[in-house]
Amino acid sequence: MMEKLLLPVLLGTNRKERNSVHPAKWLVGEMEKRAEIETRLFDVRDFALPQDDYGQGLKNLFPEWRDTIIKADGLVIVTPEYNHGYPGSLKAVLDLLLREYIHKAVAFVSVSAGPWGGTRVIEAMVPMVRELGLAVTFSDLNFPKVQNTFDAEGKLLDPAAEKRAKDLLDELVWLSSTLKWGRANVASKFHQKAD
Ligand SMILES: Cc1cc2nc3c(=O)[nH]c(=O)nc-3n(C[C@H](O)[C@H](O)[C@H](O)COP(=O)(O)O)c2cc1C
Repeated sequence: MMEKLLLPVLLGTNRKERNSVHPAKWLVGEMEKRAEIETRLFDVRDFALPQDDYGQGLKNLFPEWRDTIIKADGLVIVTPEYNHGYPGSLKAVLDLLLREYIHKAVAFVSVSAGPWGGTRVIEAMVPMVRELGLAVTFSDLNFPKVQNTFDAEGKLLDPAAEKRAKDLLDELVWLSSTLKWGRANVASKFHQKAD
């Protein structure tokens, strides 16, 4: 059997009453059902970032994140849309690393209370993750009216999300497997070896 793909999920908001926690945890459950995926949830809340410094110089303060991304084949980013952009807390966590992301896949899950499902935050993130060296899937998973899609305990109320999540994961698996093969077989000065 093919070696599992390591595809961590990053929950991108630390807001107190965040609804994004529900799709993030639910998607991790869906990913855990798939034999070809190994995953774990990272939460920006768990990163005690200093107020007086920023960026890659801090990465050794967060060894679990650093080492997981070094080994990872891709990443799922779960983000709410805040004023058509992404939370600063999410950007600060992503900016802890750089070379570690190169030629790995990323898929987006966007969350909103309104009808547009956070489509605009994904458009805002694509040029940013490109600079990180990540390759973006062309499928997204949007959760409009998230407050009606999950109950207060995080139970999914809209079964249509299952098919949309499957489609996203199918593409993420394809892209991350292809890039994994490429990193192993096609030389690039950017590839960092896992220790
Ligand atoms: C600072 C802030 C800005 C927001 N801006 C938008 C927005 O631009 N578009 C939108 O659809 N929802 C916006 N929302 C509402 C979110 O869609 C809503 O909070 C939703 O539940 C997802 O975010 P959450 O995980 O913080 O709950 C905003 C919420 C906050 C706190």
